[in-house]
Amino acid sequence: MREVKVQLFGFGNVGRAVARVLLEKERFFREKYGVKFKVVSIADTSGTVWLPEGIDLREAILVKENFGKLSSWTNEYEVYSFSPAEAVKEVEADVVIDVTNDRSAYEWHLSALREGKAVVTSNKPPLAFHYEEIIGEAERRGLPYLFEATVMAGTPVIGLLRENLLGDSVKRIKAVLNATTTFILSRMEQGVDFERAIEEAQKLGIAERDPSGDVLGIDAGYKATILHCVAFKPITFDEIAVKGIAEVTVDEVKRALSKGKRIRLVATVEDENVRVAPEEVSGPLAVSSNENVALIESDLLGELLIKGAGAGLKETASGVVSDLVKASLRLVE
Ligand code: HSE
Repeated sequence: MREVKVQLFGFGNVGRAVARVLLEKERFFREKYGVKFKVVSIADTSGTVWLPEGIDLREAILVKENFGKLSSWTNEYEVYSFSPAEAVKEVEADVVIDVTNDRSAYEWHLSALREGKAVVTSNKPPLAFHYEEIIGEAERRGLPYLFEATVMAGTPVIGLLRENLLGDSVKRIKAVLNATTTFILSRMEQGVDFERAIEEAQKLGIAERDPSGDVLGIDAGYKATILHCVAFKPITFDEIAVKGIAEVTVDEVKRALSKGKRIRLVATVEDENVRVAPEEVSGPLAVSSNENVALIESDLLGELLIKGAGAGLKETASGVVSDLVKASLRLVE
C-alpha cells in the first residue's frame, strides 16, 4: 500500500466535493490502485490559511459547513497564516490540488513543481495565461501537471487530446464549453428573462461565484484557450476573440427555435483562429442542462464527438480525482 500525501487548496463547494470522494471511496482506491490518499493540509486562499498534518476530513467538512469561513476554524485547529507559495514549501506532500479560482496561482503552481510536487488543478487562468511556462517546468522536472477538470469538468476531453489522438493532426474543434450560458439560453427559450435565468443558474451552483465571467464568455474563452494549447500550440487568452451572450434577446432565441435551431455559446478552435461567440446550432452542439460537448475533427480519425457533464460538484471532482489517481500512479513508476 502506498500512501500519497495531498495538499488541498480551495475548500469551497468543489474542494469539499473532492474531500468527500476521497473519504467515501477510500476503500475503492486502496483495492483498485493500492493507494491511500492522506490529506495533510487544507488551505483556502481567501484567508491564506492552512492546517497542519493529521486532518480528519469528516470533521473538516463539518466545521466548514457549519461555520462557513475557514477563519472560524481558529478555535478548533492550529492555523497558520502563510501565503500559498509559502505553504507549498512548508508542507510535505506528494501532490498539490488547486480547486481555487486564484488568478495568480500559476506562481505557486511553479513553486510546487520546484519543490518536486505533482500538481492537479481545476483552476483555469494559470493555464489560459501561462501554459507554456507551466508545462515546460513540469516537463523539465518530469512531474505530472494535470488539468482535466479545467475543461468539461470530468468529461475527459483533455485526456483524449493530450494522451490519445497522438498521431492525428487536429483540424478543428467546435464545442459548447460553458454550462451556465446553456442553462440561461435554455430558460430564455422558455420565455424566462436573462436576469432571472442567471439567478436560477447561481442557485443550482453551475455559475461561477461571479457569473459575469460565464455570461461574457470569459470562462468559455479560458477553456477554448486551454483546448488550443493542448490540440495545437501554446497561446494565451489575450490572443483569442471572445463575445458572450449579454446581447442575446429572448426574441432571437425564440426565432432560432422556430427554425429548429438553438442559440448556444460556441467555441471554435483552429490552429490560427480561436473564437467564442453565440451561434445558431442544431444537431450535437444543441446541448441542454449542464452538458458540454466537443466535436473534434482530425485527419486520420475524422469526426469524434465527446459529450458529458461540463459543470457540477461531483462531476468536477470526477476530473480532479481521476488526475490525482493518475499523478499518484505516475509518481510510483
Ligand atoms: N461556470 C462554469 C460553467 C463551471 O458554467 O460551465 C465549470 O467550469
